[in-house]
Parts: sequence; C-alpha cells; structure tokens
Amino acid sequence: MSTGEGVRETWSTRIGFILAAVGSAVGLGNIWRFPFQVGQEGGAAFMVMYLAFVVLIGFPAMMVEFVVGRKTGLNTVGAIREFAGGAWKYLGGLFVFIGFVILSYYSVVGGWVLRYIGGSVTGGYTGTAAEGAPPVAAQYFGTISSGLDTLLFHGLFMVIVIAIVAMGVQRGIELGVKVMVPAIIAIFAALAVYAFTLGGATEAYSYYLSPDLGYLLDNWQSIVPAAAGQGFFTLSLGMGVMITYASYLSEDENLGVDGATIVGFNTGISILTGLIVFPILFTAGVDPETSGAGAIFISVAQALGSIPFGEIVGVLFFATVAIAALSSAISLIEVVVSYVIDEFGLDRVPATAGIGTLIFLLGAPVTYDTVMVDLYDIFAAQVLLVLGGILLVILVAWLHADEAIDELKKGVGNLAWIGDLWLWMVRVPVLVVLLVSLYLGVDGFVEFLQGDFAEFLSSL
Ligand code: PFF
Repeated sequence: MSTGEGVRETWSTRIGFILAAVGSAVGLGNIWRFPFQVGQEGGAAFMVMYLAFVVLIGFPAMMVEFVVGRKTGLNTVGAIREFAGGAWKYLGGLFVFIGFVILSYYSVVGGWVLRYIGGSVTGGYTGTAAEGAPPVAAQYFGTISSGLDTLLFHGLFMVIVIAIVAMGVQRGIELGVKVMVPAIIAIFAALAVYAFTLGGATEAYSYYLSPDLGYLLDNWQSIVPAAAGQGFFTLSLGMGVMITYASYLSEDENLGVDGATIVGFNTGISILTGLIVFPILFTAGVDPETSGAGAIFISVAQALGSIPFGEIVGVLFFATVAIAALSSAISLIEVVVSYVIDEFGLDRVPATAGIGTLIFLLGAPVTYDTVMVDLYDIFAAQVLLVLGGILLVILVAWLHADEAIDELKKGVGNLAWIGDLWLWMVRVPVLVVLLVSLYLGVDGFVEFLQGDFAEFLSSL
C-alpha cells in the first residue's frame, strides 16, 4: 500500500516488528552517544544509573507508547487525538517536531560516519602527525565535521533514508532491518572478541564496569539527566516512534515480551559497544573523559591507527555504525511520514521526499560547527524527549488507565497484579524521576547555552 486511502500496512511478521523496533533503538545513540556520555559522566558510575534507567524507567515507558500505538492503529498525531482528544492533540504535534529536530542533526552525524567508511579504506585518519600538530585523527575530524562537504554528506545520508522509507513498511523498513540488525549484532560481537585480546582490555573493563559509588553520589545532578536523556534517546522513546511502530501491530501480540526483547537487545548492543570502544581507547592511551561528541571519531579513529588490523577493524566498525544509524533514522522519519500519509492522504513517495528535504534544511546549520551538534543534541535528548515522555505518561497512566490496562491484556490473557504494578510504577516513580530529570536537564541546557554556546557565538 502506498497511499493514504487504502488499507493501512502492518508488519508482515512479529519478528519484523521486533527487528524494526530494535533497528530503531540501536543506532548512533548506542555507538556514538553512549561512549561519550559514559566518558563525560564518570565511567561505570554512569553505567549504573543508565542501566537502572533503562530497566526501571525506559521499559515501563515503552509499554506506555506501545499501548497507545496498538490501541489506535494510527500515526502519532492521530493516535494521541483518538486516545485523548482536546488540547492533548498538540502532544502529537510536539512528537512530530521532535522527530524533525532529532533527525536533522542525527543525519549530520550519519554523514560523518559515511565519510569515515571512506577514511578507513584510504587510511585518511591514521598516520603520524607533524611535530607539534594535533593527532591525524583529530585533524581529519576537524576537516570532515563541518563545512560544505559535511552538508553534502548530510544530504547523502538523507537521500538513503528517503529511498528506504519511500518503499514502504514491508518492502522498505521491514526488509531493511531484517538484514541490518543481524549484521550489526554479528559484527559487533566479533569486534568485542577482538577488543578482548588487546593490551588495554583489563584496565578498560575496570573503568567501565566497576562503579565508584562515591562519584555517583557526588555527581548525581549531572549523571541523572544524562542517564535519562540517554535512556530515552537510545530506546527511541519520548517522540512516538514506538507509538508509530506499534500501530502496525496486531492484537494477539504480547507487548510485554516484545518490549523486554527490544530493551534487552538494545542494552546488549550498548554494553557491547563499550566493550569494543574502551579497550581500544585504553590500549592506545586515549583518555575517554576528554573525547566529547568527537569520541568515536577522534579517539577511536586515532586508536585504530595504532592497533593490530586497525584498518580492517575501522571499515567494519564504521560500516556497522552507518547501518545502525540508517535503521534508526528510518524510524525517525517514519513518525512524520506516517502522520502526513494518514492525515493528508499523501502518497508515500512524495511525502517522504518532501519531509526529508525539510529535515535536510533544518540540519544544514548543524554542519557549520560541531557545537551545533551539542546544541541540538542536548536540547533534544535532555529536554524534548523527557518532556514528551512525561506528558505521555500523565495522559496514559493517570487519565486513561483503564483503556491502557485493557490494551496491555490483549495477547497476554490475564495480567493479574503485573498490570497494577506497571501502572503504579509509571504513575509515581517513573513520573517523579522524569520530572526531576527534566528539571536538571533544562538546567544543564541553560548552562550549556551560557557557557560553550555563548563562547561559540562570541567567536563568530
Ligand atoms: N534510538 C536511536 C539511537 O539510539 O540512535 C535514536 C533515536 C531514534 C532517538 C528514534 C529517538 C527516536 F525517536
């Protein structure tokens, strides 16, 4: 089906849905964002908070989105409108807006990744720098991370995304992820085994896996919003991706089992990424704390230059990142595309092309300087996604609890006490933690605006 008028598409198989949701979850969030968040927020201390978030907040919040999506069988905007009505309909609009913002800079980073595949083949980011000059990998990142070429690669990334999504749910998205997700898992598992053989592995594991609780207590005000932002970002929550994907789902599906599978896979890939990235960094003597948004692009790339088989590992690594980024990007754009198809009856192909072009334009300023990536990213993850999550939780768990529980029961039979446990988890602890996270997240964003961003503006 390609028009808005006929029967709406559904996933052809259950595994198709799970893979698509895993494909959405696993992406730059796991591979690019996660390592530098771990590095900035104190290594294993962050890991503890992040894991707690994913299991105790993220999983229940994912169920909230699934319930709305499957119950209504509609795009995000239509779903919220049907579920709640009144002024709540604007929440769907907020979700579409968040999708625009995230994909606009996500695609810029996706463009960097495409560049790095080439750089790995040609050895562009390895080699010895001249006396006193920054490492070659840092120079390379400097040349590819902003400017006209960056804009072109951002465009290329969007063209690929548009091409896949224009083909539709079953032929495009489902088929794509069936190949992409197993490929990501296989290559990353192999790379983690390789990283285990490196000299710095032991030191890396202890940095990454033995938490210092004192550090956690001293720094919780920055760790909490970072973990919340990362938790929502990595699970694709807070902007209706999971509403949209669950809207293509049939009623005999057990949402809880599907959700647990998705969360499990996604967390596994993040942990695996750490098991690859940190041994590589420690082996090359690169400090994970200083890497920031350039983490995998500078530090890992630099490290690849000095480890055995670094070039082959580099090609495999960045090609896998590109695949993961694409399978997430298609979910981001699908939120907007499904909205336009359902609501305005547009054909899929022009809808996707038009929206993709607008997103490309919104991302264009991001190619000017990497500080713009931080601007969009902190705002999106720590403010917008958490806000979206909070509003949805209030709507579903407080205002429409009975419908939510009824929907959750389908495909499961008797939920018994699990339904109530979920409801009260979401109503109180999840909501409270999200509110605190939002408060701290806004605070952190303002600090960024007054600090790094103000400095950038004054340097213009
Ligand atoms: N979860 C994706 C990642 O980790 O890369 C990014 C993402 C996709 C975020 C979809 C938000 C979203 F709605």
